[in-house]
Amino acid sequence: MKIDRSIMRETTRGFQKYYNPKLNGELRLDTNTNVLGSNPAAERYLSEGRWDLDSYPNTYSDGLRAALGELYDLQPDNFIAGNGSDELLDITFKTFMGWGDRSVVPVPSYTLYDYFVGLNGGSVAAVDLTEDFQLDVDAMVREDAKMAIMPSPNNPTGNCFRQKDIEEVLARFDGIVVVDEAYAEYADGSMIRRVEEFDNLVVLRTFSKAYAMAALRVGYAAANSKLADMMMCVKIPYSLNMISEGAAIAAVKDQEFIRRSVAMVREQRPVLAAGLRRLGFEPYPSDSNFILARSPVDHAALVSGLKERGILIRDFGAKRRTENCIRTTVGTAEQNRLLLDEMEAVIAECR
Ligand SMILES: Cc1ncc(COP(=O)(O)O)c(C=O)c1O
Repeated sequence: MKIDRSIMRETTRGFQKYYNPKLNGELRLDTNTNVLGSNPAAERYLSEGRWDLDSYPNTYSDGLRAALGELYDLQPDNFIAGNGSDELLDITFKTFMGWGDRSVVPVPSYTLYDYFVGLNGGSVAAVDLTEDFQLDVDAMVREDAKMAIMPSPNNPTGNCFRQKDIEEVLARFDGIVVVDEAYAEYADGSMIRRVEEFDNLVVLRTFSKAYAMAALRVGYAAANSKLADMMMCVKIPYSLNMISEGAAIAAVKDQEFIRRSVAMVREQRPVLAAGLRRLGFEPYPSDSNFILARSPVDHAALVSGLKERGILIRDFGAKRRTENCIRTTVGTAEQNRLLLDEMEAVIAECR
């Protein structure tokens, strides 16, 4: 048998492995996780808990779904919980996009959308965001597609899409509309409490960012109970393990940590943006815990120079629409000072 990429499924043949930097104790400002460290309620749960490891977890994570229902004044039946919001993305495409169907994906947005569409045998209808990184509603609804997906706040640009544009897509797009709210805790608007209002809305959320639990891989989707039931039938049973589910329930009940984390980001975000501007960057407005900025020097030289100095940020400079841009997580006051100092040194070396 000839072993080359032609034996792979056609829609996955062009895939490359995901971002997996070699680590050497660097300060990580490249993954937009919570810089305050582990979620304290989840840590307490893990240090005090005992589990019957011979038992399966609850098939559909009913405990977490009930806790989420209370948090948002919705029903447990509005939620599907899984192994990171990436699993929920996969479930959404598996449930609502057929083989050969198209899905609308804004450009620029989360890099893994193309992967999940291809993984599920579909093709991407790429639709550029407008000049100010907002939705081009007319262009999106013109596409002959089964699904449309958008992250709001958007990754990597950082901004939320206008609420009225999201509502317009929901009203005019003839298919399922997924609003990926991985960073919504940091922003003002959210669609999650409105899932019963729309027959075609799926909202995705994660415990990986503001909740500071990326290591445990917990995410969820919210939708009206009819859509949620369909997605539940597609989801792999038991995919969220018992220990992560318990830690997530504990974390939902401790909203004080989320408030503190969000307050820190809201305070530090303008400080970091001003510091970047002073160094010659052009930062874009952000509603999340990260900032996209056009670099005053070559993007790749900046990112590798910072890595040598012990700081990881993310390079978006080779991509269309984010030419010469980098993305950095908003750190604590001390981390931001260090980042800006090291950036200044790297920029001086580049000139
Ligand atoms: C927009 C967006 N959606 C989804 C995810 C995936 O999150 P999770 O860790 O829950 O799989 C990320 C992670 O970076 C993200 O930026």
